[in-house]
Amino acid sequence: MSANTSNTSKIPVTIAGTGSYLPERVMTNKDLESIVDTTDEWITSRTGIKSRHIAAEGESTSDLATAAAKNALDNAGINATDIDLIIVATITPDTLTPATACYVQHNLGAKSALAFDASAACSGFLYAMEIAQRMISDGAFKNALIIGAEKLSAFTNWSDRNTCVLFGDGAGAAVLTRGSADTGRILATEIGTDGSQSSILNIPGGGSACPTTIDNADQKLASLAMQGREVFKLAVNAMKRSAESVIENAGLNADSIKLVIPHQANLRIIDAIADRLTIPNEKVFVNLHKYGNTSAAAVAIALDEAHREGKFMRGDNIVLVGFGAGLTWAAVAIEW
Ligand code: COA
Repeated sequence: MSANTSNTSKIPVTIAGTGSYLPERVMTNKDLESIVDTTDEWITSRTGIKSRHIAAEGESTSDLATAAAKNALDNAGINATDIDLIIVATITPDTLTPATACYVQHNLGAKSALAFDASAACSGFLYAMEIAQRMISDGAFKNALIIGAEKLSAFTNWSDRNTCVLFGDGAGAAVLTRGSADTGRILATEIGTDGSQSSILNIPGGGSACPTTIDNADQKLASLAMQGREVFKLAVNAMKRSAESVIENAGLNADSIKLVIPHQANLRIIDAIADRLTIPNEKVFVNLHKYGNTSAAAVAIALDEAHREGKFMRGDNIVLVGFGAGLTWAAVAIEW
């Protein structure tokens, strides 16, 4: 199932600021060589990843999310008390309930904000962007804080070389607000889901279907499990289709797009998408060599880095595109 919109009616929605936060500890591919049977050469050639950040033991997803959110509020010049909506996209919540967004609301002192989580794996930040932009453009909300935050290291099987080399921790955030004739705006969005493929990428244990018990705890079922090759093919196809959809709905083409910011899972996936969209590599933002796959945080961190590095300016068109467990996919075209 997928849904798309061109936001030409109602109130325009613009991005007022971005932020991100990466935990201090860096784990390199060399470090992983002493944990599982792998090599820097294998990880680099198959994925493009060189290192990832790992949260400290006492640092939770809401801590990462709060730091990224503060950074985004500063960048937007908006006070936490003026935020009326907080959506945290995560698959690694602090607790099953309440939502991680509730902790973030409290940490920020954003007392006026409605707060809830969105669970759409690596597409989560773009799902949050779609939900927030609809709630603002309908006129009910004014300033939304959307955050992608993950502590994937807490849900990683550190003895499984197929998965543990791929993921990292981090958070990214953006402040969405009502736009005007003088600001940029979200031009088009597309989000989609295919639940028939839920088993190829999941965390099988720890939920109601398979609660953690004393008997199964050592099977590490509350960890990411994946059929890598299947995911690879579906990711390329879904992100290509989703990006094409928003590019067409926004009336853009390869020449009028300044930058594409794809989900940061694998450099080979990113190269394949750029190729199929006929977008030159220099117009495609990549930072996965530093952070690995941070799931819902990946596009958010990349958006903030590209923004702060001046990769796009006011008036430029950018396209964000993601893919993740579910399966889920999403794309957003923005005039900055
Ligand atoms: N170090 C060394 N060898 C490894 C390894 C590691 N970390 N992980 C797997 N291998 C081995 C496998 O055991 C396999 O060995 P075998 O041939 O003896 O069985 C071999 O490397 C090749 O495995 P394969 O699965 O064919 O590799 P690949 O080229 O498909 O790359 C992924 C594996 C996971 C990097 C790739 O499939 C991928 O990136 N998939 C998408 C993952 C993703 O993006 N997920 C998140 C989506 S949001």
